Amino acid sequence: MVIDTSAINRRNHALADDDEVWLFGYGSLIFKADFPYLERRGAHIQGWARRFWQGSHDHRGTPESPGRVVTLTAAPGQHCHGVAYRIRGAVFAHLDHREKNGYLRLDTTLHLTGGETVAGLLYVATADNPAFLGPAPAADIARQIAAAHGPSGANLDYLLDLAAALRALGTRDTHIEQLLAELSAGV
Ligand code: BEZ
Repeated sequence: MVIDTSAINRRNHALADDDEVWLFGYGSLIFKADFPYLERRGAHIQGWARRFWQGSHDHRGTPESPGRVVTLTAAPGQHCHGVAYRIRGAVFAHLDHREKNGYLRLDTTLHLTGGETVAGLLYVATADNPAFLGPAPAADIARQIAAAHGPSGANLDYLLDLAAALRALGTRDTHIEQLLAELSAGV
């Protein structure tokens, strides 16, 4: 099921084109920065964990064979590592369209590598959106990812690109490493 959240995002977080906003990226925004930015920094957020729990019917899968992409789930005491982009408000028109399948902008606090803390936004797909798939055994998630393909490419490439990008940032994600281990074991 595809639900277009771009109008909700425009309404809930009205931004002027030349506003400067920090955006936290924890998924494809890390390895696919197809938008202009003023600055890119390593960063983490607190109290959240990255999970392959959101269905992708429009990018890495199809309505008949959805893929899985990442969203965030509340995880008290945990950190989620990613990147922070300082961008202009005008860039959100592109991002809202790109991430329109169930993702809503949410206010957050970003901890930039080096110690600075800034206010910003992230995109999250919550459990109440129609494309949400939720938790499943790691082997099942890995199998679904291995099988799915969509207009943006193979779901497996999304997982591998994200894993490589996180390693390049000097961090690892246990959920992602678990999925890679399942794939290596030949799910
Ligand atoms: C991200 O990389 O932060 C992101 C992932 C999925 C949807 C929107 C943003």
